Amino acid sequence: MKVLIVGSGGREHAIAMAVAKSPKVDKIYCAPGNAGIAAQAECVPIAAMEFDKLADFAKEQGIDLTIIGMDDPLVGGIVDVFEERGLRVFGPRKNAAILEGSKAFSKELMKKYNIPTAGYETFDDADSALAYLETAKLPIVLKADGLALGKGVLICHTLEEAKDGVKEIMQDKKFGTAGNRMVVEEFMTGREVSVLSFVDGKTIKIMSSAQDHKRALDGDQGLNTGGMGTFSPSPFYTKEVDEFCKKYIYQATVDAMAAEGRDFQGIIFFGLMLTEEGPKVLEYNARFGDPEAQVVLPRMKNDIIEVMEACVDGKLDTIDLQFEDNAAVCVVLASEGYPVSYKKGYPITGFEQFDGRDDRFCYHAGTAFNDKGEIVTNGGRVLGITATGADLKEARANEYEATEWISFENKYMRHENGKAIDEG
Ligand code: AMP
Ligand code: GLY
Repeated sequence: MKVLIVGSGGREHAIAMAVAKSPKVDKIYCAPGNAGIAAQAECVPIAAMEFDKLADFAKEQGIDLTIIGMDDPLVGGIVDVFEERGLRVFGPRKNAAILEGSKAFSKELMKKYNIPTAGYETFDDADSALAYLETAKLPIVLKADGLALGKGVLICHTLEEAKDGVKEIMQDKKFGTAGNRMVVEEFMTGREVSVLSFVDGKTIKIMSSAQDHKRALDGDQGLNTGGMGTFSPSPFYTKEVDEFCKKYIYQATVDAMAAEGRDFQGIIFFGLMLTEEGPKVLEYNARFGDPEAQVVLPRMKNDIIEVMEACVDGKLDTIDLQFEDNAAVCVVLASEGYPVSYKKGYPITGFEQFDGRDDRFCYHAGTAFNDKGEIVTNGGRVLGITATGADLKEARANEYEATEWISFENKYMRHENGKAIDEG
């Protein structure tokens, strides 16, 4: 069969590598893709938000399944456009992708269906939000309602900070129209764990857990980034946590969406916080995490196409989802200066070391070909290097060895990925 993947990051590269392993697949296209994805897929220069052009391409090429990797096209309704054209597509429709696209929607859903999450209020105008803050408990969390590249969340420790935050989000529109509404949420403390799942509208199958490293510098210092790395499984995702989430969170979310007439097909990513009162939902995403996909997918035993087709066909109950009993660590090789300012265009060497291996992977995020045909740095996050091992300790050792195989000018990475902060 022919598969089209929509997106261009490390996540889409991990999806492309998983799809390439499927014996069912003869040909992979990726729109727009990147210099690394080009090894698995024919890259097509159509942007992820050009829904009609993508659907035209899928029709012309006779694509059997299109996989949407990114949040923007999902929230914008790409799946509806493909379905209207009679094309098979993996991902939630617009009315279900709202689970990620609107924080006000997801909070209301959780409240209505008693899914554990932080207490909150929603505001449509700055004045009422400012008035509410006067009596609210600190610290407090402000969230722009819509998609904001993962940056629309402000944790405020003083009233002043919180008032400035409301102004930034709702008046200065720092996150654009995402700030037309705002959620003001109770501050929670605890470990954060990410759990990805496949969903077919009624059945949900949970993937192995993961944790990410969001801050730019070692010791969880520095600015928040799109993610400097991940590891899987999370040692904090215990059997008890799993049982609690299965009972109160996962199926409850899928059932709630179905009850609202918003059947969810695709990936639900549960951002969880393990609080003293038990696990609570921090956020939902309607797609694989980036870079969570880069540690979870290499550990999955199933044929990803079989699982995705089962989701599209509403037959996920027939799939026995299985993961290797090992661990994986991903370290992002970034450009020095990320996430603020950095130079691009440096040639990268060492890729050949990864060729043919099934225990070390080099996922491309920000790379491109220069006019000499060399692969060069083309973003803040350049590559995601993943290694597996019998356990996290071994995976981490393998990982840091593999990061040395790659060279480019201004290469920057964190050094303690795969370690829980207090693990020493
Ligand atoms: P979100 O995009 O909603 O996951 O928020 C981004 C990050 O902000 C999370 O990964 C948490 O680290 C933090 N965060 C979000 N909501 C809360 C909350 N209610 N209490 C504490 N931290 C939070
Ligand atoms: N790594 C977090 C995300 O993909 O949203």
